[in-house]
Amino acid sequence: MRVKKAIIPAAGLGTRFLPATKAMPKEMLPIVDKPTIQYIVEEAVESGIEDIIIVTGKGKRAIEDHFDNSFELEQNLLSKGKIELFNEVQKSSNLVDIHYIRQKEPKGLGHAIWCARKFIGDEPFAVLLGDDIVRAEKPCLKQMIEQYERYNASILGVQTVKDEDVSRYGIVDATEIGSRFYTVNSLVEKPKQEEAPSNLAILGRYILSPKIFDILGKQEPGAGNEIQLTDAIAALNEIEAVYAYDFEGVRYDVGEKMGFIQTTIEFALQHPELKTELLEYLSKIMEKELIK
Ligand code: UTP
Repeated sequence: MRVKKAIIPAAGLGTRFLPATKAMPKEMLPIVDKPTIQYIVEEAVESGIEDIIIVTGKGKRAIEDHFDNSFELEQNLLSKGKIELFNEVQKSSNLVDIHYIRQKEPKGLGHAIWCARKFIGDEPFAVLLGDDIVRAEKPCLKQMIEQYERYNASILGVQTVKDEDVSRYGIVDATEIGSRFYTVNSLVEKPKQEEAPSNLAILGRYILSPKIFDILGKQEPGAGNEIQLTDAIAALNEIEAVYAYDFEGVRYDVGEKMGFIQTTIEFALQHPELKTELLEYLSKIMEKELIK
């Protein structure tokens, strides 16, 4: 069966960006001039996804407004002849069919996914987390969908992370069976560095079998007292094969401050209007710091 639907969970509290995220969703923080969630939606669309459901929560209205038409703004831009901006504004509302569901309490990523079960029904689906933006020649999710079409089984998007970073991710113990392709033996959520089975971290992209919903529905809270998606995938792996795919491309972690700043600088350096001025500015700062 083809992967046509995707879930983007966006109901987390975004505590790592407080106070910025007190009244504004972390998914709306911009990288240069585009909210992080738009990069994710664009990747899904470029990968062939036809329907997206965003799981939202309290204080997330701005996400719905962003992907909706904005009649007054569009008329205003048109009347002033700002055609390029008009096109950009329209683009965000014409990307794809987006549906919304609310997670009433932030009970964890696994619970957020479970909230979308009726929308997905009995078909394989993708999950994209907004904390990870991937820049790749072929969109990350598209690479994974191609693998899904070969193996017809759940696939986790992974990449190798540094030893000191394993405790921030779901980590897989896996056996390589093909180029960049692994069978998953076991998974553990945020292990201590010394207990991690490998450095292969799940980085915000999944293709999952709908069987995961039955598991999530019965699952007890795990780490952080939250319903963990990694725990449910471990249980799924007991009843059907789960694979991991080491996707190609550069992954940017926009879910924490340092990663967010690095991503902003890198994306700005690729922006034709900003590159030269930013480089001059950065080299001036560097000079000043080196003189100190
Ligand atoms: P994170 O662990 O990054 O949580 O969740 P967060 O709340 O967004 O950020 P911090 O850690 O407090 O700064 C990973 C993904 O799961 C979603 C988040 O929106 C994010 O996309 N999530 C998490 C939910 O949708 N619901 C939850 O209950 C928890």
